[in-house]
Amino acid sequence: MQTVETIAELRTLRRAWAGSVGLVPTMGYLHAGHLALIEQARRANDQVIASIFVNPAQFGPHEDYTSYPRDPERDLDMLRQAGVDLVFLPSVEAIYPTGFQTHIEVSGVSQGLEGGRRPGHFRGVATVVGKLFNLTQPDRAYFGQKDAQQVAVIRRMVADLNFPLDIVVVPTLRAANGLALSSRNAFLSEAERAAAPVVYRALSAARDAYAQGSRYSDTLRGILRDVLSSEPLAQLDYVSVADAESLHEITGESAGALLVSLAVRFGRTRLIDNIVLG
Ligand code: PAJ
Repeated sequence: MQTVETIAELRTLRRAWAGSVGLVPTMGYLHAGHLALIEQARRANDQVIASIFVNPAQFGPHEDYTSYPRDPERDLDMLRQAGVDLVFLPSVEAIYPTGFQTHIEVSGVSQGLEGGRRPGHFRGVATVVGKLFNLTQPDRAYFGQKDAQQVAVIRRMVADLNFPLDIVVVPTLRAANGLALSSRNAFLSEAERAAAPVVYRALSAARDAYAQGSRYSDTLRGILRDVLSSEPLAQLDYVSVADAESLHEITGESAGALLVSLAVRFGRTRLIDNIVLG
């Protein structure tokens, strides 16, 4: 496994490759969810590139950029064991040199949900992912369903800007208790960690109601809120029942597939999760 920090080195190594390339962009502090993306990339491509870059542009001024967990040595061990060929570990200055002033703004699907709560977040995500696509020239890029709106934003960007690659979406990897694996789970206290599976219990209750015929979006939102309110450490940020394609919030009843998603705070840690119904 090769590790490169500069754009010049990355380009030189990339140019020497003839076969197919899979890219797995990450912010590091890796867990089994990230490794699931790498496994899929490993199976379908001749070469796999993983990037580790905590992207300042996608954090709001009062968010956790400086405290975001980092452990590059451990990450590199995990990536080596997972069979990654090349790790790109750029500095902030390499990605955003002095004078940087170009951004990618995906309008429609970036609004609402996470985009509504985190202004500028998806502009930062789209900009860095677009740069990583240009730098690594992958045939396929891998993203987790855990960040459903991120997937929608990147798919839109790839279609609109004609990036010549396929986006592969990998199902959310969960702990046995249902908690979606996330680098931010590291922030949870013991009590918060014990409480956090309520997020998946809420989503599961909505899925059960849907399976039994509940189609009214307000009924489903009510179920999510009820289950979450049973856990005193869970502070609800939002619940959403949206069209799985457009991400528009549903009013009334819907025939199509639904993205049921939520954001919940446990102390200072904000967790997101989702399921698709129908
Ligand atoms: P990060 O949060 O490190 O996640 C990297 C990738 O791993 C994302 O595609 C995310 O959806 C996926 N992932 C995280 N937890 C997962 C889980 N439990 N199951 C399956 N996949 C999971 O998302 C980002 O970084 C950044 O926004 C990035 C795309 C790298 C741009 O900076």
